[in-house]
Formats: sequence, C-alpha cells, structure tokens
Amino acid sequence: MKSNSRKPDTLITHAGLKPEANFGVVNPPVYHASTILHPNVAHFEAAETRRFDDVVYGRIGTPTQFALEEAMAALEGGARAVATCSGAAACYTALLAYLHAGDHVLVPDSVYGPVRNFTTGFLARFGVAFDFYDPLLGAEVASLVGPETKVIYLESPGSLTFEVQDVPAIVAVAKNHGIATMLDNTWGSPLFLRPLSLGVDVSIVAGTKYIVGHSDAMMGICICTKESFPKVKHSALQLGYHAAPDDSYLALRGLRTVGVRLRAHQDAALKVARWLKTRAEVERVLHPALPDCPGHEFWKRDFTGSSGLFSVVLRRDVPKAAVDAMLDGMELFGIGASWGGFESLITAPRPARLRTATKWDAGPILRLHIGLEDVDDLIADLDAGFARLSGKSA
Ligand SMILES: Cc1ncc(COP(=O)(O)O)c(C=O)c1O
Repeated sequence: MKSNSRKPDTLITHAGLKPEANFGVVNPPVYHASTILHPNVAHFEAAETRRFDDVVYGRIGTPTQFALEEAMAALEGGARAVATCSGAAACYTALLAYLHAGDHVLVPDSVYGPVRNFTTGFLARFGVAFDFYDPLLGAEVASLVGPETKVIYLESPGSLTFEVQDVPAIVAVAKNHGIATMLDNTWGSPLFLRPLSLGVDVSIVAGTKYIVGHSDAMMGICICTKESFPKVKHSALQLGYHAAPDDSYLALRGLRTVGVRLRAHQDAALKVARWLKTRAEVERVLHPALPDCPGHEFWKRDFTGSSGLFSVVLRRDVPKAAVDAMLDGMELFGIGASWGGFESLITAPRPARLRTATKWDAGPILRLHIGLEDVDDLIADLDAGFARLSGKSA
C-alpha cells in the first residue's frame, strides 16, 4: 500500500518501526554488532547472497541502520536507502558508485567545500576529469557535457550562497546523454524537496543536520531508485562505510520530530530573513524562499518549504574587524560549523576563495542557521550584533 499513499508526517512517525520484532518496544533498539553468528555452515555460506537484505555482518548493516534506511526511503519515495558514517561519506559514496578512471564529472561551483576538495583531490588522483559549472545553468549545462561525462552532481540550494538549481532541466540533459545525476538535498530534506521524483538517480542527505537535529551525531543517507541502489550499496561496502549503531538510533529518533522542527525553523528563519532585509547594513538576503535569491523561481516551482539556513550579503564597506566584533559578542547564536540542530549558529564564510567557474564578488557574507529559540530573542541578539558592527554598542 500503503506507504506510497501516506502523507510525510505519517511516514515520519511510523516508517521503519518494528515493535513486533522488538518485544513491543517502540523505537528500534541499538544493535551493536560486528560478528553475526550463523546456525550452520549452509546459513553462513548463503550469507553472501543475502547481504543487501539481512543482518550478516556489522559493517554491512545492523537492524538499527536498516530501520533508518527504510524510514528515509519511505519518506522520499525511494526504493532503498544506504546510510553512511557522515554526510560527506554519503556524497563520496554516490560519486564513486558511478565514476571510473577516465570519466568526467560536472560539479556546481556552489558545491559544499569538502565535495569540491574530494573532486579536485581524490577523484582527480584516480583519473577522473572534472569541470565546475555555474549552478544557475539549466539546459545550457549541455554545453559542458562531453563523451566521457558520466555524472552531473547537483546541490540545491548551493552551500553558502544558496543558488537554487533548475533540477528538471539539468536532469533532462543528463537523461539525453545517459548520464547519472545525484543531488545533495540536505537543505530541503525529503520533506521539502523530493529529488527522485524529479528524475534524479541518487538523493543525498547529510542526516547530521536536520534528521539528527540535535548536533550530537554524524550521519549520511543516499536515497536510491531500484536501479541506483545496488551501485550505491556496493560503493559503500567497498569503501568500508557503515552507519554507527548509536548514531543510527539518534538519527531515527531525530527523524520522528523532523516535520515539526523543520516547520518551526522555516517560520523563524523567514521572519529573521525579512527583518534582515530591512537593515541598512544588509545589501541582499540569500534565502531561497525570498525573491532576492538566485533561482528563487525554481524554489517556488520545485520545493514545498524552506529550512532554517540562509545567508545575507553585507554592504561592501563593512570591514572584517566589524563583522568579527558582531560575531564575537553574540549571546544566542553560536559560532561553529554545521547546522540543522535546535540551536542558532552564525558564521562569516568567504565563498570567493572557493569559486572557479563563476566569480563571487560581493560584500562580506553572514550565514545564519535559525534554531528553535524564541525568534524575537534571536532578532534582538542580531540587533545588538549590528550595533557592535557599526561601533555603536555601549
Ligand atoms: C550541504 C552539505 N552537504 C553535506 C555535508 C556533509 O555532512 P557531514 O558533516 O555529516 O559530513 C554538509 C555539512 O555541513 C553540508 O552542509
């Protein structure tokens, strides 16, 4: 049935639960395992053939990991999912599932930094050629496709600068040329964007962010079609990746509340973003749900909501020391990598250093993650921050 016809909030609540297999316990327990004992030789020898579907060795997957994979696949409408030890590991697993020496990959210029480094470092070292492309290219991405192009990687919206991509146009080009597509869907999560339904082959979610939701575990999940699953699972196995049992449990527990949390992040982030737009210090708000954001029209067409992460571009004449003074005094916003937890974060990234296909030429950027605090308290914290930035604080 049923799971196909159920609404996301119902799937979030029920998918992957197996109380009947666990003494009625609601949450799938944490199974710590390396060795799995077999009742006889025949069972042991048959384990190899069941390794995508059964518990045969800890690295290949525990019941806790399988429950998380089942829930994520159901939520996104995928055939199967593959959980890995981190979001970055999920990105690398997907890329390595499709790329061989001599191939060529296209990667958006706004891609998450470690994936850029993986492309220019690891992939290049193993003979994979690459080009970074303007994330705002749609069908024009075809001009970069060559006979060796085997993967078009997408991340929408892009890291730091939030360009929303024209996913259907890029997927159409890929399908025309027999090229695989994979999309980092960490920002939208399966709740607000369903890449597989747009024809993408692998949807990647850094579960570390909203799925875990509490800044205390690492997790990556590749959600796959029937065709992409065996490739991605083999890739994870050959890399030796698995999802740690405790982290799988925490991700599954986080998943049960991701719907209500994301809607709260969404509402508060929109309120803060609109307030920031009124500030004289702010030149531009890069929030996919607001018209200033490049590719906003694609967000409107393809997404069903927006999460808590966005950036603002400050006036060009704001010096670094002023930005540092703002950030150093924040009381509620923490300074730290990552996002998607219950708490607010602020950083001042420098995207210009990362670009090669496009030029990023603008004033300083602040990237904000809006957490679950009272939104008026957050605005007051930012207001005091702008006073420090302008040298007007007491
Ligand atoms: C868009 C995006 N993808 C992937 C990752 C990697 O996730 P992890 O930190 O779990 O490796 C991050 C982490 O910040 C991210 O922002």
